[in-house]
Amino acid sequence: MPTQLLLAANWKMNPPPNGFNAPSSPYRPRPDTDVLVLPATVDLERCLAAGLRVGGQGARPEATGAFTGDVSMEMLKRLGCTHVLCGHSERRQHHGETDAFVSEQVRAALALDLTPIACVGETGEERAMGKEREILQRQLAALPTETPIIAYEPVWAIGTGKNATPAQAQEMHAFIRSVFPHARLLYGGSMNEKNALDLLSQKDVDGGLIGSASLQPRSFQSIIERALTIA
Ligand code: PGA
Repeated sequence: MPTQLLLAANWKMNPPPNGFNAPSSPYRPRPDTDVLVLPATVDLERCLAAGLRVGGQGARPEATGAFTGDVSMEMLKRLGCTHVLCGHSERRQHHGETDAFVSEQVRAALALDLTPIACVGETGEERAMGKEREILQRQLAALPTETPIIAYEPVWAIGTGKNATPAQAQEMHAFIRSVFPHARLLYGGSMNEKNALDLLSQKDVDGGLIGSASLQPRSFQSIIERALTIA
């Protein structure tokens, strides 16, 4: 298991933050933390040109074809992406991505030596019914055993300012670890400079997938600094 934490900035459908390409940009790769940026597809090239390590926010598994508006894993790879998100809950919700499709995405990425970050997580309603493990179990069952990175992103915590408690995150991460002992496990869902230290300190949390707070260079920088205090 790598010891460095992975901090992935998910910019979603937002332009790169001001100064993303400045020499002092917190989005630059660094020796002590694995920093990764996930820009919108149209911004991938300029982020690469700025020397950032980038991944796609999603892609189809087919190499080419009649899929208007989509990009393929192969296109991301060719561009220079190292990673790709698979099955983010916003893709599952707005684009109908199913467990089976996410599985195809992960397998296609692996075949191209593109590192997939598979996203899983329950909705607030599912948690209220006590079904969080059942949902995760179903989502995890679709993933190949060699899935290298899994992000636990409780849907109720995404963009809501209401993060999972460190104990809740640890509990779910331990569960994922029991199924995927060798995967790197990221927590995502309202991670910010205030809660990052507690969340990232949990035994089975190996990094973060950070949305809103990653759009503020100062907040992202603070999260990196918190991460650096964790041995
Ligand atoms: P958030 O988003 O940090 O804004 O909650 C995380 C994500 O969706 O990856």
